[in-house]
Amino acid sequence: MELDRTQGNAVYFCMFLKESEEKHREGDTMDFLKKLSVGVCYYPEHWDESLWPSDLERMMKNGIRTVRIGEFGWSIMEKDEGQFDFSFFDRFLDLCSSVGMQVIFGTPSATPPAWLTCRYPETLNANVDGVIYRHGGRRHYNYNSSVYREKVALMVTKMAEHWGSHPAIVGWQIDNELNCETNDFLSKADGEAFRSFLREKYETLDALNAAWGTVFWSQTYTEWEQIDVPHTNAIASHNPSLLLDYVRFVSHSALSFCAMQTEILRQWIEPRMFITTNGMFGRMDNHRMAREILDGYMYDSYPNFAYGIDQTWSAEDLHDRGASMNLIKVRSICPHFGIMEQQSGANGWYNRLEASMPRPGQLKLWAMQSVAHGADYVSFFRWRTSPVGTEIYWHGILDYDSRDNRRLGEVADFAQSLEKLQEVCGAEADARFGVVQTYDNLFDADVDHWHGRVQRASEEGIFEAAQETHTTFDFVDLRDETRVEDLLRYPVLFAPHLVILREAETALLRAYVEAGGVLVVGCRTGYKDTTGKCPMQPMPGLMRELTGTTVEEYTFRSPAEEMAEAEWDGKKLHVDCFMESLKALEGTDVLARYTSSYLKGEPVVTERRLGKGRVLHFGGVFTRQAARRFLKNLKVAEPYEDWVKAPAEVEVVGRVRDGQHWLFLLNYLPEAQEIRLGKKMVSLLSGEEEDGRVEIPPYGVAVYRV
Ligand code: GAL
Repeated sequence: MELDRTQGNAVYFCMFLKESEEKHREGDTMDFLKKLSVGVCYYPEHWDESLWPSDLERMMKNGIRTVRIGEFGWSIMEKDEGQFDFSFFDRFLDLCSSVGMQVIFGTPSATPPAWLTCRYPETLNANVDGVIYRHGGRRHYNYNSSVYREKVALMVTKMAEHWGSHPAIVGWQIDNELNCETNDFLSKADGEAFRSFLREKYETLDALNAAWGTVFWSQTYTEWEQIDVPHTNAIASHNPSLLLDYVRFVSHSALSFCAMQTEILRQWIEPRMFITTNGMFGRMDNHRMAREILDGYMYDSYPNFAYGIDQTWSAEDLHDRGASMNLIKVRSICPHFGIMEQQSGANGWYNRLEASMPRPGQLKLWAMQSVAHGADYVSFFRWRTSPVGTEIYWHGILDYDSRDNRRLGEVADFAQSLEKLQEVCGAEADARFGVVQTYDNLFDADVDHWHGRVQRASEEGIFEAAQETHTTFDFVDLRDETRVEDLLRYPVLFAPHLVILREAETALLRAYVEAGGVLVVGCRTGYKDTTGKCPMQPMPGLMRELTGTTVEEYTFRSPAEEMAEAEWDGKKLHVDCFMESLKALEGTDVLARYTSSYLKGEPVVTERRLGKGRVLHFGGVFTRQAARRFLKNLKVAEPYEDWVKAPAEVEVVGRVRDGQHWLFLLNYLPEAQEIRLGKKMVSLLSGEEEDGRVEIPPYGVAVYRV
C-alpha cells in the first residue's frame, strides 16, 4: 500500500486497520504454537562472529530450537540514511539455516539510529513539559511523526523484500514492547494526530465541548488548535474526559503503528511466517491488536523482577507467583500464546538492580508457570548476559564468561520436560469463573484514581482468593463481538467495577443471566458514561434493572476508620476500601447487612433472580477475604478437591480438552510441599502413576493427567 500522507494521519491509520482486519484469521492458532517448544533471545551484533557457530550448537544441544533476533538492529542494517546493508544478518541467518535453527526476526523500530533522530528530531517523543527526548535510550520515538512512519515503512519493506522467503525465518516480531518505557506520547506530531483523532470522533467542537463537559472551569474550546495532548498543566489537573480520550488515542496510535508494519510485511513474506509482538503494556487495546493485526500474541515474563525482590510466596504477598495474574490476562488476549522473553537470570540495569538470581529450580518453575497458563512457546531472555550497555546486570542464561552453568542445565531440563507435556498443548484453561473487563474501564481506571483504586483492589483480591482456593479463572474482555455463548462458558462472572457501562454490555450481561449465568457486580458500577461523565441517575445506572437495587450511600473508607464488616450466612464479610449501602427494590433479596460502621444494619449484598440465573450486588470491593467468601458461597472454590488436596502455598492450574483434564501444581517455596492425590493419576513428568501422598520438591512442578 502506498503511503498517502496527504490524507491526514487519522484516515491513514484507519485504512491500515481496516485492511488488517480483513486479513484477520480469528480462532486460528498459528502453526508455530501448535507444539510446545523452547527458544532464546539472541543478539548476533553483540558478539564476535566466531562465537556464532558454537553458540547455535550449544543452543541446539540444550533443546533450544528458535532464536529471536534483530529487534534493536537498525543501525546495523542502515548505517546511514538510505544505505541498506543486510549482509550481517544474512550471514547469521544462513548459519541458522545450515544448523536447522529457526528465527523470529524483529522489526527494529524501537531503536531508531542516531543519524535518524538527529536529522529528524520531529520523530522523537517529548516529555510532559514538551522537552523532546534525545538519542541514547530506546523507545524515544513517537508513533505519529509522518517522517518516522515513512522511515520505518521503508526499513520494514526492505527487510521484508530481502528476507520474506528466507528458509530460517518462521515469524516476525513487530517493534519491541509497544508502550513500554513510556506510554505517554506528547510530541508535536502526537498533538496534531490527537486533534485529527478528535475531529474524526466528534466532528464539531460543540460536540467535543459537550462530551468533555468543558463548561466546567471555563475550558470551552473555540478552535481545534487550542486542544493538545496533556502537557504539564500549571495548576491542578486536566479535564478527565480529555484524558480518557487521550488514552484511547495512545492505544489507537500504537495499534495503527503496529498495523502499518504488519501490512507491509504481509505483502512480502511467505504465508507460512507468522507476525507477532511482545507485550503486555497499558494504554493499548491488546485484544484488538492480537485479533485484528497480529497472528498471535507473545508476552515477556519476569516473575521476580516484576513482582518483588523476595524469592518466595507467602500468605500475605504473592511475589513471583503474582506473575500468574498477568499470564491469565495474556490468555484472555490470546488463549494460546508464546513467551518471547522468559526470565533466566538475575535482573537489573546498571542503574537499578532489582531481582536476584533464580534459585535452583526457579528458572524451570517460572517457565512452567507460563506453560501452565497457556504458553506454548517459551523463549528465554537472553542467551548470554551482555557485557556492555545498560543491561549488564540483566542476566541471561549464561554469564559473561559463557561457560556452561546451572541455569543452562535447567533450560535443558525444561526443554526435555516440555517434550513430556506435548499432549497438553492446545488444551484450554479449565476456568471455573470469569472476571469481566472492558477497555473503557481499563482506560478510565488509568485516568481516574478513585476508579483505579477499587479496580486494582478487586483484581488483586479476586486473583489472590482464586490462588488460595486453587480455582482456575479467566479474564473476559467484553467487546462488541462478544456473544452470550462466550460468556456462558463461565457459570459465574464477576464484573467487579464496570464504572463505565454501555447499553449493549448491559443487554449482553442480561442475556447471560437469563440463560442461567450468575453475575456478581461490585461497588461503583454504572456511574459514568463513555465520555467519563456521571449521568444524573441513581447508581448502579444502567445495571439497576439487573441488580434490582439502588445505591443509597457511598464512601471511601477513611484511613482513620476501622474496616467495615458485614454478616453473610452467619459469617464475616470484609467491606474494605469502599462502602455502598444498597436498597433492595421489589423482587430483590438482601443477603448480607453491615454489622459495623455508620452503615450498620444497611444491606451490602443483594440477590435478584432473573430468568434462569441471578445477579448479586456487593456494595464493596472484592478484597481477598470478600472474594473468597463469594467464591465459596457460589460453590466455585476448590474445584479439584476430590482429585488433589494441596496447601495454599501450591498453585494449582487446571487445563481441559474434550473432557480430559490435566493439573499443573507449582511450588513457589524453598521447602518441599506435600500434596495428597485423591485418585491414581499419571505424572507426565515422571511417567509414573501416582496416588496418595506426594512431595513436590522446593520450587518444583508436577503435572498430572487426571
Ligand atoms: C524487556 C525488553 C528486553 C530487555 C529486557 C530487560 O522488557 O523487551 O529488550 O530490555 O526487558 O530490560
